[in-house]
Amino acid sequence: MINIGIIGFGTVGTGTVRILYENRDVLRERLGFDINIKKIATRDVNKERGITVPEGLITADVNALVNDPDIHIVVELIGGIHPAKDFILSAISNGKHVVTANKALLATEGNEIFEAAYKAGVEVGFEASVAGGIPIIKIIREGLIANRIHALYGIINGTSNYILTKMTEEHVEFSDALKEAQQMGYAEADPGLDIEGIDSAHKLAILAFLSYGMPIPYKDIYVEGISGIATQDIEFASELGYKVKLLAIAKESNNEIELRVHPTMLPNDYLIAKVEGAFNAIYVEGDATGSTLYYGRGAGDMPTGSAVVSDIVSIARDIAKNATGRVPLLPMTERDIKIKKMDDVLSRYYFRFSALDRPGVLSKISGILGNYNISIASVIQKGRRIGEAVPLVVLTHQAKERDVRHAIKEIDLLQVVMDKTVFIHVEGREDV
Ligand code: NDP
Ligand code: HSE
Repeated sequence: MINIGIIGFGTVGTGTVRILYENRDVLRERLGFDINIKKIATRDVNKERGITVPEGLITADVNALVNDPDIHIVVELIGGIHPAKDFILSAISNGKHVVTANKALLATEGNEIFEAAYKAGVEVGFEASVAGGIPIIKIIREGLIANRIHALYGIINGTSNYILTKMTEEHVEFSDALKEAQQMGYAEADPGLDIEGIDSAHKLAILAFLSYGMPIPYKDIYVEGISGIATQDIEFASELGYKVKLLAIAKESNNEIELRVHPTMLPNDYLIAKVEGAFNAIYVEGDATGSTLYYGRGAGDMPTGSAVVSDIVSIARDIAKNATGRVPLLPMTERDIKIKKMDDVLSRYYFRFSALDRPGVLSKISGILGNYNISIASVIQKGRRIGEAVPLVVLTHQAKERDVRHAIKEIDLLQVVMDKTVFIHVEGREDV
């Protein structure tokens, strides 16, 4: 029997406990022994959680759990940096294996935690930290180990995808869609992490660390969230045959890697563009496999609980076979890989100019774009309101981010441009 202690009894904590109880038989059949929940630590021991656990299991004393000599695995499900990091480091220094769903912590402090675990000879499982129920960590660490990863594109924030889907399909207001996502238990305690792209960047940092054998590169990721996306941009995108998705992107070429998170227009017929609601999908292109795609629920109690339990079982099996550390956490040799500056990234773009409806305006704007080597692929102008501002929508061919930013700065100074220009990156087909 393997004893575990769980810290945090919220959305993911209750999902994890429910699975361990409800699927106890099937887990025993598969493992040959029991996973025993010895303690659950949480702040409010009296709160109703919608799940019944044996008397005396819940405690407010996290240290008693972390220092319990009978507990083999400590499962951290409270979130945030402190005290989560302190609990994890104490558990590690007590020789305990750790499982966590805490991507914010791993993205920012993971190098230190993994180093401490390596030195202590214990495992850290973090399957639940990226893409909920999709076992993407195992896929990259084990399933795709034979591949050089050329590119990875992920919809890895359920809350943002839920909001964008509701705005696109049901014309729900941004703030109402966010409230719904919060009620469903998808959002972070601070939903700013979801809608500003930070949660996706945390997850991308973890995926890049695993895919490219580099230290966790969180601080080098370009991040832009969905809070600036307006309904009219979603509608124009749709008219042009695109969906707007919050995409996390990693692309490697010539020992240089692009790491970016931003709203992205994707052609409607791409599989990843069809991922709706709180679902996640990750497209991974390996040199041997070619294109692969993983899809599933990216948030919520049970899918995330499934990932937590899968880590507990993996570690329990390793303990049982005296084989902990079998799949090493850190690469045997760290890669020296450069991260491309966002300014140097090539992309295609959607622009929405607020331009006066007056002859010659398009030529002024296209003149500036041309001066910066930005070539126009298509243009639409909606409505006729002579002398008033109307949206002028432009799709470009591939251009350099630095040139785009300079051009927009110049365009926004034109007297015929009445508001800040909106731009969205476009991925997919080259023939726009
Ligand atoms: P919740 O807010 O639902 O739950 C957090 C739990 O931690 C609560 O039970 C809370 O106690 C407890 N807690 C907080 N601080 C302490 C403390 N200092 N000592 C003891 N207990 C504490 O969060 P989630 O379950 O949603 O998220 C947990 C982690 O999982 C986070 O890292 C999150 O990013 C991650 N995650 C969440 C997903 C989701 O879909 N929700 C999906 C993937 C990862 P109490 O209730 O008693 O106040
Ligand atoms: N807040 C996160 C999301 C939870 O919406 O994807 C899952 O990591």
